[in-house]
Amino acid sequence: MKRNIVITGGAGFIGSHVVRLFVNKYPEYNIINLDKLTYAGNLVNLKDIEDKPNYRFVKMDICDFDAFYQLMQDEKIDGIIHLAAESHVDRSIKDPFTFAKTNVMGTLSLLQAAKLYWESLPEKYEGKRFYHISTDEVYGALSMNHPEGIEPPFKTVASSEGHKAYGDDFFYETTKYNPHSPYSASKASSDHFVRAYHDTYGMPTIVTNCSNNYGPYQFPEKLIPLFINNIRNGKPLPVYGKGENVRDWLFVEDHARAIDVIFHKGKINETYNIGGFNEWKNIDLIKVMIKTVDKILGNPEGYSLDLITYVTDRLGHDARYAIDSSKLQRELGWNPSLQFEEGIEKTVRWYLDNQEWMDNITSGEYEKYYQDMYKGR
Ligand code: NAD
Ligand code: DAU
Repeated sequence: MKRNIVITGGAGFIGSHVVRLFVNKYPEYNIINLDKLTYAGNLVNLKDIEDKPNYRFVKMDICDFDAFYQLMQDEKIDGIIHLAAESHVDRSIKDPFTFAKTNVMGTLSLLQAAKLYWESLPEKYEGKRFYHISTDEVYGALSMNHPEGIEPPFKTVASSEGHKAYGDDFFYETTKYNPHSPYSASKASSDHFVRAYHDTYGMPTIVTNCSNNYGPYQFPEKLIPLFINNIRNGKPLPVYGKGENVRDWLFVEDHARAIDVIFHKGKINETYNIGGFNEWKNIDLIKVMIKTVDKILGNPEGYSLDLITYVTDRLGHDARYAIDSSKLQRELGWNPSLQFEEGIEKTVRWYLDNQEWMDNITSGEYEKYYQDMYKGR
């Protein structure tokens, strides 16, 4: 079946993997990558598919209601997969306004344009879909009542060897929203607007909340690419606080596959959590990265450990995220495909093999931002 789909934020980290998957898997679809190309958007991420006949890039701000409404009409859009956002917690602490504007007003603008266009059609919302990509951070933070780790209730292919859980509670689809950072507050607000468009106007919407992603093409302000690059360059590794915070990591291509399954088979007005049951304390993960980079670069074991530098903690730093994705596994048959240790090795190799990609980003403007961000830490 032919479909006309807009993927917003397709030049970013996760969006580029989603665009690539859809363009390659569905030659019959018309895929439009809509992106403003902020500091985080990079069309180089999509070089391998840019000439495909079913792909088109449109430079647009999601806050531009008129332009998006026109695009909906011109392209007869019947599906929206919305990933465009300001995504970095540290930036949200410094500049919350940009987060409210893009994440809240931008999402609302897309919703309203989609509503006006779809309601103008004879078939109205039939066959339409507004799929909003959100984060587990909207649920707040979980307790760390087992700091040494316990046997987890569930494992997947993605779970690390000797996988542990650091608390006995998890984020479920039913967990009450309790965001702490300006980033997660803005994402929570956008999630509420999406659900409100279903409840008020009957728009066919879906929301998914995913845990931390890792893999190729992630902007190097985020923990994993930043640290791989710093290890490569012998630069300090700024560990916030004591490095005891826990994150739950999923390989980005597994997230993209989940988005594909949910876009096609997910139930309208449902929420699905996405994650691989793979909790890691930051400091343990950092040691794995050091070991992997040192091994690949031929350094002696432990060579880069003294780059670890404990710095002032992130304000309001959430202690632990751990997502229960069993509903998605049970109802839609999705499962992660990549084991964590394999995924980290693959990721480290990708960044080391793609130094030009990294160096292009980390020179110039970025360097100034980075120096500013870590000034005084
Ligand atoms: P990213 O920062 O790498 O990419 C964001 C993309 O959105 C960029 O290409 C940027 O140019 C674009 N964008 C930003 N503002 C825009 C605007 N006003 N108009 C149009 N385009 C704009 O982000 P990411 O890590 O790929 O995250 C993508 C989505 O997934 C976000 O909604 C994020 O909240 C969510 N998410 C991310 C993670 C994660 O671990 N990275 C986990 C769960 C959910
Ligand atoms: O949980 C999903 C979220 O994961 C997404 O919604 C966000 O868009 C994404 O950025 C990510 O948020 P985090 O804040 O968890 O990711 P980040 O890579 O910034 O940090 C991961 C952990 O590492 C966090 O506990 C903070 C810590 N950290 C991070 C950086 C950049 C450090 O200790 N030092 C650092 O320099």
